[in-house]
Amino acid sequence: MKKVLIAALFILMFFQVFSQEDHGSSVSLIPIPVSMHTGQGKFMLTKNALVELKTNNADAKRVAGFLSKKLSVATGYKIPVKFVNTASHGTGNISLAIVQDATLGNEGYKLIVNSNSVLLSANKPAGLFYGMQTLVQLLPKEIESKTVVSNKTWKIPSVTIIDYPRFGWRALMFDVSRHFFTKDEVKTFIDNMVKYKYNLLHLHLTDDQGWRIEIKGLPNLTKVGAWRAKREGAWGNTKAPDPSEPKTYGGFYTQDDIKEIVQYAKDRFVNILPEIDVPAHSMAAVASYPELSCTPGTYAVNAGEEFQVWGKDGNQALIDNTLCPANEKVYTFLDTVFTQVAQLFPFEYIHIGGDEAAKNFWEKSDAVQALMQREDLKNMEEVQSYFIKRVEKIVESKGKKMIGWDEILEGGLAPNATVMSWRGMEGGIAAAKEGHHVIMAPMDYTYVDLMQGDPYVEPPEFATLLLNQSYKFEPIPNGVDPNLILGGEACLWSEHTTNMRAGEYLLWPRGMAIAESVWSPKEKKNWPDFVRRVEYQFERMDIEKIKYSRSMYDPSFKASVDENGQLKVELETEVPDLDIYYSFDETNPDEFYPKYEKPLIIPKDALHLKVITYRNGKPIGKQINMPIEELIKRTRTKKG
Ligand code: ACM
Repeated sequence: MKKVLIAALFILMFFQVFSQEDHGSSVSLIPIPVSMHTGQGKFMLTKNALVELKTNNADAKRVAGFLSKKLSVATGYKIPVKFVNTASHGTGNISLAIVQDATLGNEGYKLIVNSNSVLLSANKPAGLFYGMQTLVQLLPKEIESKTVVSNKTWKIPSVTIIDYPRFGWRALMFDVSRHFFTKDEVKTFIDNMVKYKYNLLHLHLTDDQGWRIEIKGLPNLTKVGAWRAKREGAWGNTKAPDPSEPKTYGGFYTQDDIKEIVQYAKDRFVNILPEIDVPAHSMAAVASYPELSCTPGTYAVNAGEEFQVWGKDGNQALIDNTLCPANEKVYTFLDTVFTQVAQLFPFEYIHIGGDEAAKNFWEKSDAVQALMQREDLKNMEEVQSYFIKRVEKIVESKGKKMIGWDEILEGGLAPNATVMSWRGMEGGIAAAKEGHHVIMAPMDYTYVDLMQGDPYVEPPEFATLLLNQSYKFEPIPNGVDPNLILGGEACLWSEHTTNMRAGEYLLWPRGMAIAESVWSPKEKKNWPDFVRRVEYQFERMDIEKIKYSRSMYDPSFKASVDENGQLKVELETEVPDLDIYYSFDETNPDEFYPKYEKPLIIPKDALHLKVITYRNGKPIGKQINMPIEELIKRTRTKKG
């Protein structure tokens, strides 16, 4: 009997020390690792700690340096890096080792924390870098402080983590054209993305509102194309620039700036995918060199005023913002541009845009008609395809592979093109069916510039994308060869993103949802647990002074007219366990007000439906004072 008891005790201890898969409250990692087991006890980081480096590899040395620096700022400890040529690791130290472990691949890592030591190992330095991000997330949130935090015990829970990414392509796109972001802001962007294990920055470098990269021999691109008239107010509804108005808003990266950004990114295991968006989205290029257009005229860099109209059959341009596919000078121009872009960016791909080209000016162009005759092109889609295929040849002649948005499918894909699917997943599915590589960036999951709450309270955007919808992002559609899906990408467009704080607000927490979708195993994703972990990341961001959106705590409003002709409103929250309290009497609701239980019929003469969410008796959302007029309007426009 005693033996049985001892055995039972032993088994119990085993399960306590090496607990089962853990989503324990003390560990709130994003993205969630492939496997994680928590144990007993904690590692204590003290002022005597060293980062022990067990390899001579220069990249690993750099990671050790990053770790030492990161740990020393908030702790105030020195935590120097020390090269150690032994297999054993010193008590109280953090060891970094390069090993050979087939499960980990190029970016995976293994992290073992116990009360004596921390051992981080990986096949490649990139794995050490991602393991370091995990290690930092395991430390108390105060580690994110930029100044010394005294009287803090720096404990790391005992864990064994084995982790590696689901996809090699884990990208964030940053539109630096609609609004310019400085070199230092791009570096900060990189610093923030790597915390969630993104490894690719897609820079949208050119568009109608600005050309952002110096090209030698084409000085007007940055003398003219990088600058525009400054506008506040509603994008798409501002005044067109006056020729006499100063064009001083904007900027560009010199080639030295680009080299510096590329190196900064490379040091952090981030590649940069440059995008030169052609043939449309090219007003800045055409303003610089009007001879590149099919339509003679004088052009100005767009300042946010409307110049295209969108219908169900696509878009019609009011001003021609395209490069002329029938003009040989355009291909010479692009050869110069892509020669230099290829030299500046070591990444194997170049993105050539290809999206949203209005064809109405091409239809009127004699040169395009002549091109169609000569090349036997039957319609404007085939003209576009002819252009993209020529661009692919240019890109390939520079030793690079070409990517384009999914419109490049129209009229026939270029032979080796990779497709970035943004208008949903359909373009990606179609491209994969033709055997092409695909990156999934569907706007209904990954466009993180969209509103993440009710349009009445969010900064304006074209549509809404809630956090839980982003979290549902699954890059591999049913019935598609998974080997053709390289990965996924979140896109931060900047029509409305006028500054970095605004960008952070849009990116976080949705950037975390997409990071988890491209790094973690699909079956590990769990929405309520993700919300819990996001909330922990919020606390860290508060310390680090990074902006994020708390809109996940607010309800969405769905308005309709019921069978009796009365205005009905349904409220829904995406975060579990929230209570919504409301008022119709113009006073501010709190937890003593009526709680939302079922759809509301709006009382006669009410002016506002005021709502606020609570959790466990504490307010957590913002008060929203929704005008009844706004709800009535929604029933008319059927937006709900
Ligand atoms: C896009 O959003 N036009 C790619």
